Amino acid sequence: MKREPGLVPRPGILDITPYIGGEARARGFERPIRLASNESALGPSPHAVAAYRALAGEIHRYPEGNAEELREALGRRYGLDPTRIVCGAGSDELITLLLRCYAGPGDEVLYSRHGFLMYPINALAAGATPVAAPEQDLTTDVDALLARVSDRTRIIFIANPNNPTGTYLSAQELSRLHAALPPSVLLAIDAAYSEFVNRNDYEPGIALVNRADNVVMLRTFSKIFALAGLRLGWAYCPPAIADVLNRVRSPFNVGSAAQAAGVAAVEDTEAFDRACAHNERWLPWFSSRLATLGLQLTPSVANFVLARFPDYPPRNADAAFAFLQSRGILTRKMGAYGLPECLRITIGTGSEMETVAERLAEFMAAR
Ligand SMILES: Cc1ncc(COP(=O)(O)O)c(C=O)c1O
Repeated sequence: MKREPGLVPRPGILDITPYIGGEARARGFERPIRLASNESALGPSPHAVAAYRALAGEIHRYPEGNAEELREALGRRYGLDPTRIVCGAGSDELITLLLRCYAGPGDEVLYSRHGFLMYPINALAAGATPVAAPEQDLTTDVDALLARVSDRTRIIFIANPNNPTGTYLSAQELSRLHAALPPSVLLAIDAAYSEFVNRNDYEPGIALVNRADNVVMLRTFSKIFALAGLRLGWAYCPPAIADVLNRVRSPFNVGSAAQAAGVAAVEDTEAFDRACAHNERWLPWFSSRLATLGLQLTPSVANFVLARFPDYPPRNADAAFAFLQSRGILTRKMGAYGLPECLRITIGTGSEMETVAERLAEFMAAR
């Protein structure tokens, strides 16, 4: 009997290893210390929570499809033209849309070896081929990227600062990368952690977008604004790219609660300043505590650290993960990023960081 052909997804889809988010549960702990997903330690602005609650009686209505108030609030806050802003259900959605619009079968999408996993995943989902460039000291290497640009390259994704390494490229290095690219290649600068960066030579990408037609900057409300559960991100684009994204995004891609909370969050500069000050205090504190335990740290400018553990079993990263989890502390394993010897640990509240540092000291000292 002749067999009917079965259902087959598009090429590339079955090559995808599904993204696994950070753990949210630790058995036996009702409220574990959650340091696995880089959410801001202090939680959202109280004004954002109030704006979210105030919408409860209106959730039978469709949201405003253009997120106009939110784009205007972002425009005021960052000095940007709101017509060049496109909002999305998290910056993840904007990564997906950029790939869908600008890359497809036969095209290459370039990213840094330890860049954010959603770049290769979404490149494959679009039918394109992800190409990873090696790094120097876990830092994006502009020359290695440029060496891999081919006439099939359509997009380069740079997370700046990068997740999971916490390292960054200076504004000058990003300009150097951009200057060497053909105008047909899109440079997507993912500045999800930009608000935490406290370095004079850093720039999130706005200046480059302002002077080039082939650069976009992605931002999120999931990190410093602590609205990860609402799924809200935005892209600042050249007008032609904003037009393209607006053609393909679904008409109600950002929920009304996310829009309202986003406006309140972006206007609450006090909550923002508190979150920055918190990270500026606890990132160096935690980093130096881990260093005194003999762990190798990659210098981070974001709200997390990447800690390298010894490679022998009783002290390795898997053992540390299990030890912490059994004490109600959730960190992130890095095997999916090709860094199985490391754990990524988010900067939580002060008392959470003190607890983690104490538990890690016990782990490193245990016989
Ligand atoms: C570099 C980077 N870009 C984008 C995202 C996705 O953020 P969102 O929650 O806005 O989809 C993350 C989340 O971890 C990230 O680390």
